Amino acid sequence: MYSKITGTGGYLPAKVLTNFDLEKIVDTSHDWILSRSGIMQRHIADASEAASDLALHASRRALEAAGISAQDIDLIIVATTTPDQIFPSTACILQDKLGNKSAVAFDVQAVCSGFIYALNTADLFIRSGQARNALVVGTEVLSRILDWTDRTTCVLFGDGAGAVVLQRSDTPGILSAKLHADGSQRGMLAAKGSIRNGSIQGNPFISMDGQGVFKFAVKVLSEVVEEVLMENKMTHADIDWLVPHQANLRIMEATAKKLNLSLDKVVITVAKHGNTSAASIPLALDTAVRDGRIKAGQHVLCEAVGGGFTWGAILIKW
Ligand code: ACO
Repeated sequence: MYSKITGTGGYLPAKVLTNFDLEKIVDTSHDWILSRSGIMQRHIADASEAASDLALHASRRALEAAGISAQDIDLIIVATTTPDQIFPSTACILQDKLGNKSAVAFDVQAVCSGFIYALNTADLFIRSGQARNALVVGTEVLSRILDWTDRTTCVLFGDGAGAVVLQRSDTPGILSAKLHADGSQRGMLAAKGSIRNGSIQGNPFISMDGQGVFKFAVKVLSEVVEEVLMENKMTHADIDWLVPHQANLRIMEATAKKLNLSLDKVVITVAKHGNTSAASIPLALDTAVRDGRIKAGQHVLCEAVGGGFTWGAILIKW
């Protein structure tokens, strides 16, 4: 028994914030942001939109592409670092907004690796026979946890959601996945605040050691891609598309170079939405499926690294 992605969907909020707009908010420039990150603009959710609303749009598009209805879904996993509320989970809120009453629903918190963790979990549910039709979503309103006076972080992130429908199948499907975590590195990228007795304790905004993150990311991403390829007795030449977490163009370029992979084989969407954390891989998958780059039968390798630190890769036969 295998699981197969049968539909993808994406959603970016209407409001666009360009690098030129940011020049008016913090001491930065379009050229600095573009040359350091490859980002040109990001989307910002309206005050009335929560992570579950973005997820709802992306999910409806994925369900439509798969040709099934929300009632057919028996598992909903939402990867997010910016949930609607402390509890219930954003997955339960999404289930209600979709009008589904029977799916198992829970959130996964692995920051930018959240979608890889969630997709791997959904695959295991399906292959063990516990689910048949899963909805796996990455959704973020990171604009709400950015310090808009801190130019070292606020220029890099954006809001968005991406979703896939994963269904039981006789043919592969998800071929394999590798997940990792190293909590000793948790200070390098974090939003350290917590809620205690009704008020926020500590800094609730994203803080980051940019150069530390860069070095760590390139190292572990190339290692985990090698790990998955070796497990499947495949080489770099067998990858049709690398779909990385869209954190930063320079991290993607450095990883591709280390893997000896041409950039023509890398799906890159970061310019138009910045780093959308758990949403970035499903958004990139949706873009490349809809524009015809990713085709049936091809090998697609997704990889991500994020706060925790967490990282992982997943190999898919489309
Ligand atoms: N605009 C203009 N100047 C800036 C800005 C800005 N937005 N931010 C920092 N600078 C300045 C710094 O103050 C510094 O000035 P100084 O030389 O006078 O001290 C100068 O630019 C260089 O700063 P560095 O931090 O050395 O810049 P670097 O080349 O390392 O680029 C960056 C910074 C883009 C953060 C880089 O380290 C990076 O890409 N790191 C990865 C971080 C990342 O992608 N995080 C995303 C989350 S992690 C994830 O999703 C995996």
